[in-house]
Amino acid sequence: MKINENTLLEGHKVVLVPYNEEHVPRYHEWMKSPELQQLTASEPLSLDQEYDMQKSWKEDDDKCTFIILDKQRWADPSVDEEQCMLGDVNIFLTDPTDLSLAELEVMIAEPSYRGKGIGKEVTLMMMHYGITKLGVKRFEAKIGLDNQVSIAMFKKLHFQQVSVCNVFKEVTLELTVDESIQKQLQDDVAYMKERDFRLARSNRHEFI
Ligand SMILES: CC(C)(COP(=O)(O)OP(=O)(O)OC[C@H]1O[C@@H](n2cnc3c(N)ncnc32)[C@H](O)[C@@H]1OP(=O)(O)O)[C@@H](O)C(=O)NCCC(=O)NCCS
Repeated sequence: MKINENTLLEGHKVVLVPYNEEHVPRYHEWMKSPELQQLTASEPLSLDQEYDMQKSWKEDDDKCTFIILDKQRWADPSVDEEQCMLGDVNIFLTDPTDLSLAELEVMIAEPSYRGKGIGKEVTLMMMHYGITKLGVKRFEAKIGLDNQVSIAMFKKLHFQQVSVCNVFKEVTLELTVDESIQKQLQDDVAYMKERDFRLARSNRHEFI
């Protein structure tokens, strides 16, 4: 999606930046991990295929993706941005006849960053972005039956289980955005700031 190509979202612990070509090599390294392939139900791709995928995430109207960066590390301009990457978060508009329905995916690829509240923060930030910028009214999360951490996280965020597919070994959780959810979310991410990515990138030291 082009809508977020110059958007940076600043949270407490993270900044979310558009997925660009320079992020692809690290992303590709992550996805060689059998654990991540299993947890995210992904097939391994060649580096060329990963570049094509990045292009499609950037250009297709039904996909919106951000790379998650460690805000504190990124605030040091001497550190390569690639070294600040810790995961990604995506919205996928799965139904061309209903653009208010979005599948949500989050991956904290770096194990040392898991269990520190980052997955929750990023998911809330992305939901807020999806509702306010993309008009999302219903979120879906499809999660492997074995992925208890992810299932627990989405349940904590008030998603409810709507179906289990034993063939694909996955569960679908959903959240319909009503007024109270929207108000709660607004409060939860009131601290979040949206900035111009290019400007922010040339003033990284301001993020300390
Ligand atoms: C699933 C994932 C996104 C969660 O992000 P995270 O940063 O590790 O999780 P958080 O620290 O924000 O915790 C969020 C909630 O998840 C649950 N959770 C986190 N770690 C957990 C653990 N070790 N055991 C059980 N539940 C856990 C808790 O409900 C927690 O809420 P709480 O801290 O208020 O109790 C992350 O672990 C991840 O990306 N894992 C690998 C890839 C993956 O599974 N992606 C999802 C594919 S659908």
